[in-house]
Amino acid sequence: MNLTIDGIPFDAPESWTILETARFLGLEIPTLCYHEGLSAWGGCRLCIVEIGTGDRTKLVTSCTYPVEEGLVVHTATKRVISARKMILELLISQCPTSKVLQDLAAKMGLNQVRFSPKWENCIYCGLCVRICEEQMMASAIGFANRGNELKIHTPFDKTSDECRRCGGCMYICPACTTRCEGTNPENVLCGRCENTLQPTCLEVYENNYHCWMGLKGECGTCVTENNK
Ligand code: SF4
Ligand code: SF4
Ligand code: FES
Repeated sequence: MNLTIDGIPFDAPESWTILETARFLGLEIPTLCYHEGLSAWGGCRLCIVEIGTGDRTKLVTSCTYPVEEGLVVHTATKRVISARKMILELLISQCPTSKVLQDLAAKMGLNQVRFSPKWENCIYCGLCVRICEEQMMASAIGFANRGNELKIHTPFDKTSDECRRCGGCMYICPACTTRCEGTNPENVLCGRCENTLQPTCLEVYENNYHCWMGLKGECGTCVTENNK
């Protein structure tokens, strides 16, 4: 499938998604509910990209969207970056102690969370459900209820006989992993762990930077992110 992604023409295998293509080309797209060994679910929407041209563009989840002949993809337009930040803000307000989320905030340059923290222990990414069903062949846990009542649970809320006590669900859970210790309740962003990241190109070279792909800003990734 011949497509163009951030200005790069590429012939991607028919079975690939936009995310797989972007990663093959070294283009970074943040993900949360996606895991290479599991089916793509498209639940968190953090991996959105913009497809189309002119005023006929739309946002789609790159982890579930298959490549198409003639597809034009932009992975980091202003619209994409701002939508991703809004999604991450909502996720962090749900579970501010998640180190996975705090690290994503630092990487994505998120510097505020405008929603009240809920201090929940789950962001409903569904990774635990999928690893249990697809890798452990147990199907011991699942989603229950809807809306504000949504939760992950075992059938009848009792210890499931199907559970193998393998720990797969805890291993993969972005809310269960090492808890962030630096979170301040009045400002739910931390960033401490990732504060040692290298400065971006523009911070070092101002406007005279040379993108390693020679696109000199046409790809929009660096420019968009730093002009916010
Ligand atoms: S510990 Fe139990 S619920 Fe968790 S993944 Fe393993 S089998 Fe599933
Ligand atoms: S328990 Fe963890 S892995 Fe499961 S849905 Fe919630 S955040 Fe995701
Ligand atoms: S990573 Fe694609 S929707 Fe969550």
